[in-house]
Amino acid sequence: MLDAAIVVRDGGIVWLGYEASLPPEFADPALPRHDVGGRWITPGLIDCHTHLVYGGNRADEFALRLAGASYQEIARRGGGIVSTVRATRLADEESLFEQAAGRLEALLAEGVTTLEIKSGYGLNLDGERKMLRVARRLGQHYPVTVYTTFLGAHALPPEYQGRADEYINLVCDVMLPRLHGEGLIDAVDVFCENIGFSVAHSERVLKAAQQLGLPVKMHAEQLSNIGATQLATGFNALSVDHLEHLSEADVIAMQHSGTVAVLLPGAYYFVRETRQPPLDLLRRYGIPMALATDSNPGTSPTTSLLLMLNMACTLFRMTVAEVLQGVTIHAAQAIGQSARHGLLEPGRAADFVVWSVDSLAELAYWSGLNPCRIVVRGGCIT
Ligand code: NIG
Ligand code: FE
Repeated sequence: MLDAAIVVRDGGIVWLGYEASLPPEFADPALPRHDVGGRWITPGLIDCHTHLVYGGNRADEFALRLAGASYQEIARRGGGIVSTVRATRLADEESLFEQAAGRLEALLAEGVTTLEIKSGYGLNLDGERKMLRVARRLGQHYPVTVYTTFLGAHALPPEYQGRADEYINLVCDVMLPRLHGEGLIDAVDVFCENIGFSVAHSERVLKAAQQLGLPVKMHAEQLSNIGATQLATGFNALSVDHLEHLSEADVIAMQHSGTVAVLLPGAYYFVRETRQPPLDLLRRYGIPMALATDSNPGTSPTTSLLLMLNMACTLFRMTVAEVLQGVTIHAAQAIGQSARHGLLEPGRAADFVVWSVDSLAELAYWSGLNPCRIVVRGGCIT
């Protein structure tokens, strides 16, 4: 096997190829060099769908679900997302930062260098601002590039019960423009579902995002199919996420709009879903598939992206190549950042991971073993 070399300058990759063909300008022995001993290197991993910032946890609801209650029943009884909203509103910024930091450290230890974080547990201006500020601060304090997504339309807050129209007004006319003006929003997401927001309400949020020039994504076809994907593709959504109830017509719409399918095996597993996302259809129409943790207190309390690779292979029968693309190049596309992340190529960020494995299949094979040895982000060893 021939040795490879990566040349890094100013945080980016400037050359990559066989070491034997290193251009003379980079062969200067005075330049700093790191020998990784012939180990495998991949792009830094990208977790493109997380709800990492929130207060408390929902271990009590987990017990209820084990006793037979469904995720939807718990939500209808005033638990679910709304119980995390209560805990998040009560927590101050410092405490939210500390709680999320522990989860973030676990992700980073496995080679995550880019991360999407959604709001959606504040559900009022101050609460959503607090979450997004914490997400930005995490990106400043840790060696990770954070992209924020505004998910004000995640659930109807208790004080707006029966007044969904008015809440959507607040989201579109107040929260979205204000928080965007404060530089806190990179994309906009909606939970379009029978226990979330209707297609008509979701459409208003997507329109408001579009008017501000913000890209959109969607929690779609997780529990039922109410037309979320076809609404999202009409707005050229970056991604639609979950997708257990996706139809062929939805997949065709995704093909036309270039929308990424984000699959979330952690949520599928944790809510004991039995219906699988239609992998064959996604493959047949050549839809890029990304994978993410969906790290959240209700449906996917996980902080391991490597475990998601394992679950996507075992539960969804994805191939090793598919899951590796799912947390690199396709994940970058799902957050609209494929020019910068997700591939080892000159011109992209020097974000990569050195693994202690004999083959890349081991990244999906182990569950619980972490073979991550060195993480480089923006050209610096973290
Ligand atoms: O991605 N589906 C909606 N949102 C989250 C769950 C949030 C929660 O239960 O707290 C999800 O599954
Ligand atoms: Fe989610």
